[in-house]
Amino acid sequence: MPTTKILVSGVRASGEPHIGNYLGAIKQFIALQNQYRCHIFIADLHALTTISDPKEVRVQTLEVAADYLALGIDPKKTTLFLQSQIPQHAELAWIFNCITPIGELERMTQFKEKSSQQKENINAGLLNYPVLMAADILLYKAEAVPVGEDQVQHLELARTIARKFNKHFGKTFPEPKPLLSEALRVKSLSNPEKKMSKTGDEALLLSDPPEEISRKLKKAVTATDAKGAHPGVDNLMLMLREFGSREQILRFESELENNTIKYSELKEILAQRIAAHFADFRKKRKELLASPETLADILGEGAEKARAAAEKTMREVKEKVGLL
Ligand code: ADP
Ligand code: TRP
Repeated sequence: MPTTKILVSGVRASGEPHIGNYLGAIKQFIALQNQYRCHIFIADLHALTTISDPKEVRVQTLEVAADYLALGIDPKKTTLFLQSQIPQHAELAWIFNCITPIGELERMTQFKEKSSQQKENINAGLLNYPVLMAADILLYKAEAVPVGEDQVQHLELARTIARKFNKHFGKTFPEPKPLLSEALRVKSLSNPEKKMSKTGDEALLLSDPPEEISRKLKKAVTATDAKGAHPGVDNLMLMLREFGSREQILRFESELENNTIKYSELKEILAQRIAAHFADFRKKRKELLASPETLADILGEGAEKARAAAEKTMREVKEKVGLL
């Protein structure tokens, strides 16, 4: 039974998702739409802190929307929209800026990391990023926010801002809580000591065609490491447990134990299963990207629904701070 609890999450467009992103984050996220009233938006205003090419902003925004829809975000259950289509995000962020000490922003880990990664572009948006994130969440009076480890500090700031606002201006916002999912780590195929990553070599992308999945898996490292462990094999087995049939899982687990396992067979079956699992995704994604009007309609309807809630909160906030 869905509760009336509100969940908000922003998705940052950051290139095509891979199996690690899927098993470590997106899959859990999609399951939540049956338990909460979900507001999910593509964080395109946040994207401007790191991307400055207009074409790239546009393409990445639409691609990530298509990815999430094709993976099963259901616009009937979930309000899916673009952050920039609801001006109240930026408006509330301004008000929060005025109650947030600069010092609290300067000590954010992500600000420090990003500033060192893009020394030529340490813009004020990077510093104020978590204030906008607090506005994203509190605008909808969300109680639950699914986040990865790296965003916990930002969520803590959103809680601090809510508390401070409530204390000064009267009870307005609930304090949002993090929903941390049990993290599953998929490893790189070529270097299973490291996690699979977009920036690393050859991640298994969800949109990879079957031949590509098969080619990448064939090359996956299965060697024993210096400590006598088999991290590459463990990684393949982790994926088999997610995508294989019960029989396949039992078969390879017992072959592994009896030392009769043939890695080439494991890789072949795994490639077939992964390709089949994402066949529908590949098809839907392609259709959506070929029809930007459909995508725009879905996002437009989502924005329509989000706007009503955003306007209501903003009216209340303006009254409380003395602007109305
Ligand atoms: P990447 O490292 O590929 O750039 P991001 O940093 O954009 O990925 O992460 C997006 C989400 O996917 C985060 O919640 C992160 O924890 C999760 N994630 C990324 N890589 C993996 C992985 N190899 N295994 C499990 N989860 C992952
Ligand atoms: N900062 C988040 C990230 O980097 C994206 C994000 C923006 C977000 N606004 C949010 C997440 C609000 C949760 C709630 O992944």
